[in-house]
Amino acid sequence: MIQTRLRQTMRPRRLRRTSALRALVREHRVDPSQLVQPLFVAERDADAGPIASMPGIARHTVAGAVQETGVLAALGIHGVLLFGIPESKDALASRNYDPNGVVQNAARAIKTAYPHVVVIADLCNCEYTDHGHCGVLDASGDVDNDATVEILARTAVTYARAGVDVVAPSDMMDGRVRAIREALDGEGFEQTALMAYSAKYASAFYGPFREAADSAPQFGDRRTYQMDPPNVREALREIALDVDEGADVVMIKPALAYLDVVRAARDRFDVPIAVYSVSGEYSMLKAAAQNGWIDEQRAVDETLSCFARAGADVIITYFAKDFAARHGAR
Ligand code: PBG
Repeated sequence: MIQTRLRQTMRPRRLRRTSALRALVREHRVDPSQLVQPLFVAERDADAGPIASMPGIARHTVAGAVQETGVLAALGIHGVLLFGIPESKDALASRNYDPNGVVQNAARAIKTAYPHVVVIADLCNCEYTDHGHCGVLDASGDVDNDATVEILARTAVTYARAGVDVVAPSDMMDGRVRAIREALDGEGFEQTALMAYSAKYASAFYGPFREAADSAPQFGDRRTYQMDPPNVREALREIALDVDEGADVVMIKPALAYLDVVRAARDRFDVPIAVYSVSGEYSMLKAAAQNGWIDEQRAVDETLSCFARAGADVIITYFAKDFAARHGAR
């Protein structure tokens, strides 16, 4: 009786029996070619070196960033996301639109050495303002949206001129995608792509990054411009606006706690979707692994494949190099 019933039962375990069988029916896989490695680049050599809160990640000099890009390319990672640490900061983020600023210099050097690598530049002011906010302040100390958008557009043109392939605004000001697109087109950079941090949440998981990029706000927080974590409909509205304004790729950030947002966006929009697994997600896994509490490699592989399962095309992760070193170029 029991035997008969079992014979008629569907047995999903059949396809889990061996590694080759599991691989044959696997629904999603991660390829190094879809990964982007963030790179911190310091203008002053003295600012380069390891980042205590992100074990295994360092701030590079410009020359070091070029070298690292070569290592990444050899491993099959052909996308880097640049963050600049300028030698000085001011209220107007003026080092950000200096044609000889650190991101511009790094982009030029990388594109000269490795022309095929996709150089993405994070576009924000928080690393360049002395107060650490993502924009310029008005008389009352609030971030002035429209004045900030002007600076972003101006900076974007200097990035494009330096050879940046993809400009990625991460400031969360309203209307910045359209303004940047118009500024780029106005200067003849129609081919420079825009990857918008469309749904960027005011997250505690950016903690280690703020040490890495020296960009913590000196007062207040970013909640008046970054999104409130419990919201998902608002994320879809932000994405719709950015697509309408001309974003080529939209991004959701952070990743792990926001995969429902990635899925909702995937179901609604046809543009490529990027997900950014942020500094705190990296450091969390690293810390647990260093304590022997989880198996780092398995946790990384599982995490990245779940980003793909949720619907991400592009995966930005501090583990990109490590993943590619283990899985190789395909
Ligand atoms: C700049 C920016 C931040 C991150 C990416 N771009 C910091 C922030 O918004 O506070 C976070 C990246 C990370 O945590 O890995 N605005």
